[in-house]
Amino acid sequence: MALKITVIGTGYLGATHAAAMAELGYEVLGLDVVPEKIEMLQRGEVPMYEPGLEELLRKHVAGIEGSTGRLRFTMDWAEVAEFGDVHFMCTNTPQKHGEYACDMSYVDRAFELLAPHLTRPALVVGKSTVPVGSADRLAAYLAAHAPVGEDAELAWNPEFLREGFAVQDTLHPDRIVVGVRSERAEKLLREVYATPVAAGSPFVVTDFPTAELVKTAANSFLATKISFINAMAEVCEAADGDVVKLAEAIGHDERIGKKFLRAGIGFGGGCLPKDIRAFMARAGELGADQALTFLREIDSINMRRRGQMVEMTREALGGGSFLGKRVAVLGATFKPDSDDVRDSPALNVAGQIHLQGGQVTVYDPKGMPNALRLFPTLGYADTAVEAVRGADVVLHLTEWREFRELDPATLGEAVRARVVLDGRNALDPALWRKAGWTFRAMGRPTA
Ligand code: UDX
Repeated sequence: MALKITVIGTGYLGATHAAAMAELGYEVLGLDVVPEKIEMLQRGEVPMYEPGLEELLRKHVAGIEGSTGRLRFTMDWAEVAEFGDVHFMCTNTPQKHGEYACDMSYVDRAFELLAPHLTRPALVVGKSTVPVGSADRLAAYLAAHAPVGEDAELAWNPEFLREGFAVQDTLHPDRIVVGVRSERAEKLLREVYATPVAAGSPFVVTDFPTAELVKTAANSFLATKISFINAMAEVCEAADGDVVKLAEAIGHDERIGKKFLRAGIGFGGGCLPKDIRAFMARAGELGADQALTFLREIDSINMRRRGQMVEMTREALGGGSFLGKRVAVLGATFKPDSDDVRDSPALNVAGQIHLQGGQVTVYDPKGMPNALRLFPTLGYADTAVEAVRGADVVLHLTEWREFRELDPATLGEAVRARVVLDGRNALDPALWRKAGWTFRAMGRPTA
């Protein structure tokens, strides 16, 4: 009989995982503790912007016309425990307030609520990004609290999806990593992922700590790559070099590779910044903090770029105070094709300029509602052209395709001064300069 799957926590990770599991042919039951989320999902609506996800949900959510009906949602833990052969735990693990460490309370609470209902054999699979050692602790918790005892087994299966590509990354992962303690658990997970594995996704089997570490190591490496190129941008700025050419040239070396070498205002979002901090905190607890001191530098290079963008803006405005200056900000989300503004470098820069007296107007294709909620005192406009109206300087801070397709000549008619600063190295300098703009970009020569 086909496996039945549950997904606990329906954020970015859980909602995508649930829809993907239904797409793979399984009967899926999703659970969340927020009633509004469940109601939306039951209507086939996604609580965030993620390309392709709504279509996938609507294809499978029960009750929607023409759907397979394989995907349902509930708030009932007993129902979930009764239903599932495999439970995917997808709750979030944010940074603790005022600390580097990871807040495990959502994960712990989910295990506390599920365990007492586990009266039949099941595999509980952790997917959240957690401090190494968590799986050992949670396995002991399950053994002690599940009525079925050792027949409720734990596995750890980190998720590597990127926002904006969540559906594609989940259906066609570039690797599947499973931390297991038994052949039974490995066999079950091989069965769950048989389709992507048959299509070529490598399947890596490890112990618990390694599986947990693979995720934090991967994110640390990505953060390091970005901060490396941003450090080179700092040097280029001092030496009048061009970091875009430099990245292209070193990227031809296959050992280095071209990806994740885009210099600019740096990384943000709900993962990279908090994951490297939680990793440092955990290494400290383990007595291995020296191994990760470099991550502190990666973090500070990253944060420094935001400040550098503010200074570039000040300089472009002739130096001194921002008072009375109109600053247009194109982009609010931490990356394009997402509506996520968590730890967004764009909004951080906008907020700093605003706090220093600048009159900031922000436009973003998808991030406006979230930006408005988090930064209600900034100015907002409904279109890029509206945002730049009367501006003394235009900042390009999130590299949406819409911004690359803007016509600099049209925009030039709306602004007070034709000055654009590219914080993402994604605009074409020649195009803007041809239309009479002063164009500056991070880590690139002035002309
Ligand atoms: C990341 C990891 O890529 C993913 O594997 C993991 O599961 C979760 O964390 P995500 O946060 O969605 O995914 O975004 P990502 O595409 O990695 O970008 C992170 C940040 O780095 C963004 O703010 C982006 O603008 C920035 N970035 C990325 C750069 O500044 N330069 C680059 O070259 C690449």
